[in-house]
Amino acid sequence: MTDQELAALAWEARKNAYAPYSRFPVGAALLCGDGTVFTGCNVENAAYGSTICAERTALVKAVSQGRRGDFQAIAIVGGGDTPCWPCGACRQMLAEFAPGLRVIAAGGDGVLHRSTLDQLLPNSFGPKSMESCDQVTEAGEDLG
Ligand code: THU
Repeated sequence: MTDQELAALAWEARKNAYAPYSRFPVGAALLCGDGTVFTGCNVENAAYGSTICAERTALVKAVSQGRRGDFQAIAIVGGGDTPCWPCGACRQMLAEFAPGLRVIAAGGDGVLHRSTLDQLLPNSFGPKSMESCDQVTEAGEDLG
C-alpha cells in the first residue's frame, strides 16, 4: 500500500469524526505488516478532557483486535494549514507498540509529510525503561 493510499483511508475515516467542540476533524489510518489497516477519527466529549484523538482510536482498535508489534506506518490527516502531526499523548501511546513507526501527516492542502516516531519522540520512556527494576516505592520499604 502506498502512503497516498493510506492517507486516502485516513481522509475517509475523518468523515466519521465527532468534533462539535473543536470543529477540527481528524482521520488516521494505521498499517499493519500483513496489509491490514485500522482507521480512526477523533471522538470528542462535552467533558473535553475525555476526548480521544484519531490516532489513539486507530491504535486501540488494532490492539484490542490482538495486533501488537507489526505496525508499519500511520497516516494522520486534518484540515489545518499545517500537517496534522500527532499530539504528545498519541506519540507516547504509539511508541509503546511501534517506536520506529513511519508517520505520514497531511493538512488541508493534502501534501504528505513524512517522519518517524523516533524523530517525533526522542529518548522516550517505554517498556524497556522499566526493565531490571523491581523496587518497592512505599516509604520504609526496601528499595534495593
Ligand atoms: N486531534 C487528533 O485527533 N489528532 C491529532 O493529532 C491532533 C488533535 C484532535 C483532538 C481534538 O478532538 C481536536 O483534534 C482538536 O485538538
